[in-house]
Amino acid sequence: MTGGAGYIGSHACKALAQAGYLPVTYDNLSRGHEWAVQWGPLEEGDIRDPARLEEVFKKYRPQAVLHFAGLTYVGESVERPELYYDHNVAGTLTLLGAMVRAGVRRFVFSSSAAVYGTPRGERVEEGDSTEPINPYGRCKLFVEQVLADYASARGVGSVSLRYFNAAGADPEGRTGEAHDPETHLIPVVLAAARGDREAVTLFGDDYDTPDGSCIRDYIHVTDLAQAHLLALGVLDDGTGARAFNLGNGRGFSVKQVIAAASEVTGCVIPVELGPRRPGDPAVLVGSSERAAGILGWKPSHADLRHIIETAWRWMNRSGG
Ligand SMILES: NC(=O)c1ccc[n+]([C@@H]2O[C@H](COP(=O)([O-])OP(=O)(O)OC[C@H]3O[C@@H](n4cnc5c(N)ncnc54)[C@H](O)[C@@H]3O)[C@@H](O)[C@H]2O)c1
Repeated sequence: MTGGAGYIGSHACKALAQAGYLPVTYDNLSRGHEWAVQWGPLEEGDIRDPARLEEVFKKYRPQAVLHFAGLTYVGESVERPELYYDHNVAGTLTLLGAMVRAGVRRFVFSSSAAVYGTPRGERVEEGDSTEPINPYGRCKLFVEQVLADYASARGVGSVSLRYFNAAGADPEGRTGEAHDPETHLIPVVLAAARGDREAVTLFGDDYDTPDGSCIRDYIHVTDLAQAHLLALGVLDDGTGARAFNLGNGRGFSVKQVIAAASEVTGCVIPVELGPRRPGDPAVLVGSSERAAGILGWKPSHADLRHIIETAWRWMNRSGG
């Protein structure tokens, strides 16, 4: 597993280990944490390093590759596109090459709702047009297209999982979100509740939504982890390249998230109004019916308060 020292990857390691797999984390620790690797060995390495990849493939002879590693900030991708094309595209190509040379032909890819760009409908489906509006989203879409070519030319079966907004933390509190800087709404709101930051910035309150703030789809990280197990179950040599949305199918506005966080924490959360961010659609909510039908996936941590509670508990863990 690449990126197993990161937020979603570490939750996936836990789910895999519980299902009887040995998750081997391959991560350069540039943005992940050694403490997050608790369910299998850590092999330090960069996905852009073919020799190191070969060594690790030889050592463990994995059944499949789950690819979480990459750079994840949309804003940074706009400012430093070369970095994103290098890690997220060239790095993935290097990984795929090493994987095929090692005879591994099952691949699960962390894609993103960013492949859709500005959605036309209210609930995005996999067949909707994919027109990413920033380098981060373009990297994800390009890799998905590469995977379709690898399916026909190299027999690599792949599943691309298009996550909506990953949120929450392991309900048992063993791992959680620890990004620096943190840009995701729920941890930012909770940091403001704790007084770790002065306020939450509301980027625009005049969108065409009931309360004027943007609506997003928040999906619990444990539910995302579970989907990877199910994806492994449908992957077989020659199964082609398939993509699935992973979201709750229900949107919450930024103001609703702040209100729910205020209830969960019992704290007043200061809010300041900022300008709209370019490229932020008013509503981005996913339909996950395909994942339900084909993978048999159903979120079991869908309640927004529960999502926030698990994140809050993680943030307030001893030493947190
Ligand atoms: N968090 C979300 O809401 C979200 C939404 C959609 C898609 N995704 C995708 O899911 C994946 C995981 O996201 P996350 O939030 O856990 O991110 P994260 O930053 O917590 O984890 C990414 C991991 O990849 C490692 N890494 C980065 N570049 C590397 C390289 N060149 N070689 C080896 N390791 C490298 C980092 O050290 C880190 O441990 C990413 O691909 C991201 O684009 C995340």
